[in-house]
Amino acid sequence: MNILAIESSCDETAAAVVRDGRTVLSSVIASQVEEHRLYGGVVPEIASRRHAEAISPVTRQALEQANVTLREIDAIAVTYAPGLIGALLVGVNFAKGLSMATGLPLVPTHHLRSHIASNYISNPELKPPFLCLVVSGGHSHIVMVEDYTKMKIIGRTRDDAAGEAFDKAARTMGMPYPGGIALDQVAENGDPHAFVLPRPVVHDAPYDFSFSGLKTAVINLIHNSAQKGEELKKEDVCASFRYAVVDCLTTNFLKAAQDLNVNKLVIAGGVSANSLLRRTLESECLTRGYQFYKPEKSLCGDNAAMVGAQGYYEYLSGNIAGPDLNAFATMSIE
Ligand code: KG4
Ligand code: ZN
Repeated sequence: MNILAIESSCDETAAAVVRDGRTVLSSVIASQVEEHRLYGGVVPEIASRRHAEAISPVTRQALEQANVTLREIDAIAVTYAPGLIGALLVGVNFAKGLSMATGLPLVPTHHLRSHIASNYISNPELKPPFLCLVVSGGHSHIVMVEDYTKMKIIGRTRDDAAGEAFDKAARTMGMPYPGGIALDQVAENGDPHAFVLPRPVVHDAPYDFSFSGLKTAVINLIHNSAQKGEELKKEDVCASFRYAVVDCLTTNFLKAAQDLNVNKLVIAGGVSANSLLRRTLESECLTRGYQFYKPEKSLCGDNAAMVGAQGYYEYLSGNIAGPDLNAFATMSIE
């Protein structure tokens, strides 16, 4: 079964053709990041306008690269939540138009479920149930994936998402948006123990996260030293901050796995590209005898191949939308 998938939830316009949820025939991404970088973050109105311009050519390119025509497509999957509403509406309306014109079924797909599904592409043998740490620019969740379309939230952030914390810390150090990747690279050459940063815990909710205190601590550290005219070693600040965030994420994730007696662990979302997060979980899982799965780095960020993967399982479970499909800025993964 061939699915044409469309993604426009944030600042990437993407289309892909995916066979049977696991094989990527094509994946095209038009990124707007260079333009948003001028403003230090995503400007929603600009994002919507760029999606409107890019969506037709990107979809055409995805079909051409897969060497298929619309006649060889069996369903259209589209991201309909969560994300920037104006951005989502471009993809949803485009997919609805295509579905009406072709008579193909329309499959509404949840963005975070798609991030999880990027793992089905990178790890063909992976099947639920498993426990997944979903960490992106907007969300940080520990999710029990009971089946392809049945999920339960075990833990979540109470304030900032992990990606957001990385981006804000990076910005304070003068790195361009989105700073998470740059901070990760600089941290590779620093000492993670150079600065002691807090490990915020949420009382009575052992699997929940809180990153705003940690973010404030690193911003204060940078500002205080600047006021005193002291030069901080950037590599050490990045390494200490990255270590603190990864420590919070992995501690709660491993505790949840132990308490729930799950031995198959998966990571997903933009922050799952983080080198220290990948290395730490790789070795912790090896020590504990757990199976560990991660998406290849090219599938960690927003793309439509993952939408095609999740869309396949949504289609099999009967999740088909009518012509009145709407987009939603927020929606639980459950
Ligand atoms: O999943 P994603 O592409 O978009 C959302 O759905 O939010 O995640 C983007 C986030 C950004 O905050 C970006 O800085 C972060 O993922 N990110 C990283 C790394 N690569 C991307 N954060 C830390 N280390 C990385 N290597
Ligand atoms: Zn995303």
